[in-house]
Amino acid sequence: MEKKKIVEIKNISMTYHTLDGETKAIKDINLNINKGEIVSLVGPSGCGKSTLLSIIAGLIEPTKGEILIKEKKIKGPNKEVGYMFQRDHLFEWRTIIENVLIGLEIQGRVNEKQYKNAENLLDIYGLSEFKESFPRQLSGGMRQRVALIRTLIVEPDLLLLDEPFSALDYQTRLAIADEIGIILKKEGKTALMVTHDISEAISVSDRVVVLSKRPATIKDIIPINLTCPGGVRTPMKCREAPEFRYYFNQIWKELDIHV
Ligand SMILES: Nc1ncnc2c1ncn2[C@@H]1O[C@H](COP(=O)(O)OP(=O)(O)OP(=O)(O)O)[C@@H](O)[C@H]1O
Ligand SMILES: [Mg+2]
Repeated sequence: MEKKKIVEIKNISMTYHTLDGETKAIKDINLNINKGEIVSLVGPSGCGKSTLLSIIAGLIEPTKGEILIKEKKIKGPNKEVGYMFQRDHLFEWRTIIENVLIGLEIQGRVNEKQYKNAENLLDIYGLSEFKESFPRQLSGGMRQRVALIRTLIVEPDLLLLDEPFSALDYQTRLAIADEIGIILKKEGKTALMVTHDISEAISVSDRVVVLSKRPATIKDIIPINLTCPGGVRTPMKCREAPEFRYYFNQIWKELDIHV
């Protein structure tokens, strides 16, 4: 059976024009993402990762190329795509639960059941006591969790996650990445995630896309096949797979980081 394509990124290039001149951010990117797949994007800082996500989300128009979502060309922001930004963009004047519900509110879908669902998610992420608090009362990690719940709750066909765990301390990061990896897989979500963390990319993804330095081009696409201990593929268990090191070294080499 042929896999169902959710996103087709076709020949995308992006050049920013500013008063200081032009910045080539992305060059000739082609990539398809299938239903249920989790794909990670890794690449040097400033290479154009957030730019690519913003183009897929329909927030900025590429200089060249097109994005198809479920075979339809996108022309602007659309409800098929849920985007969790690199910075959390919570609304300071709204409470936490109001922030979580905003996407559904825009779509006119807030009801008793969704409200319960929001409460339940806040509970799972250890935030229930902050339901009526305001964003400024939360730590960076907590704010990021709120942003993630807000993205998950509208159940988009495609999730775009821009360094979703970067504000978390290391231990929480491992736990949350594990949990989210499991949730995404269990619910058959399709996601494109930017991360700086090679181990995280390998442990949660079906494929890792390595980008070159700016302007970003695709250097390599690495399908991840891990034999996880006990046959359970959770991100945490995956880190113990014998192939893990091999992938790590390969991606590290391709990223070509000089210190
Ligand atoms: N709105 C904009 N106008 C002009 N230049 C921009 C704009 N947004 C980004 N850029 C430039 O485009 C390039 C790519 O930026 P982008 O934010 O996509 O990189 P990134 O890979 O997400 O970086 P990081 O790893 O730091 O998050 C950078 O050189 C940046 O300065
Ligand atoms: Mg970025």
